[in-house]
Amino acid sequence: MKYPTPYSPDFSSRDPLAGVAEEFPARWSPRSFVRTPIPAEDLAVIMDAARWAPSAYNEQPWRILTSTEETFETFLGLLVDANQKWAKNASLIGFMVARKNFTHNGKPNATAVYDCGSAWMSLTLQARKLGLYTHGMAGIRKDAIHEAFGIDRDEFEVVAGFTIGVLDLKENLGKPYADWEGPSPRKPLAEIWKQGVW
Ligand SMILES: Cc1cc2nc3c(=O)[nH]c(=O)nc-3n(C[C@H](O)[C@H](O)[C@H](O)COP(=O)(O)O)c2cc1C
Repeated sequence: MKYPTPYSPDFSSRDPLAGVAEEFPARWSPRSFVRTPIPAEDLAVIMDAARWAPSAYNEQPWRILTSTEETFETFLGLLVDANQKWAKNASLIGFMVARKNFTHNGKPNATAVYDCGSAWMSLTLQARKLGLYTHGMAGIRKDAIHEAFGIDRDEFEVVAGFTIGVLDLKENLGKPYADWEGPSPRKPLAEIWKQGVW
């Protein structure tokens, strides 16, 4: 295995219906990473998976900004402090950026952020296929990101951040993160799915 998993996470809090593809419940968001470079060809495959997400008018409003070895510390400094504490051991930090208006008519694209979420999930599942993990982050310094990279606020919106990394033992995480490390439960299906009436 190229990216070995050092232990078997406890999936007992997850109760997918029989028939749900294992990729879905087997995705989770660790914070314990061992700093490992990801070969360029694997990264390209992960990012290319995002390209195949669906989007309104096929606008493909997602733009993905990722760190390099040289810029990792700059990216890390653009996370809120709490996320910096664990993200420092990730292989890569990325930011999902949405193009706010449609190309074909210049009007606001109300689902640009929604489409970015689809693209992020696509790259996440592709990363899992390769043995890597992602962790989404709302805790980013959006204004600072716009400024640091000169991202035009009229045209683009920084949506969220994420890490990609190689799983490490949870014992190597500090408190309180070590206590939270592991697959989390979900609401019952009946709470999120309404058929016919709200
Ligand atoms: C958009 C988004 C933002 C998130 N923001 C943060 C964050 O700033 N810090 C953090 O530690 N986890 C963050 N998370 C991780 C969530 O807490 C996690 O996905 C959720 O608890 C479900 O757990 P699971 O991904 O392990 O299934 C974020 C996840 C998403 C999708």
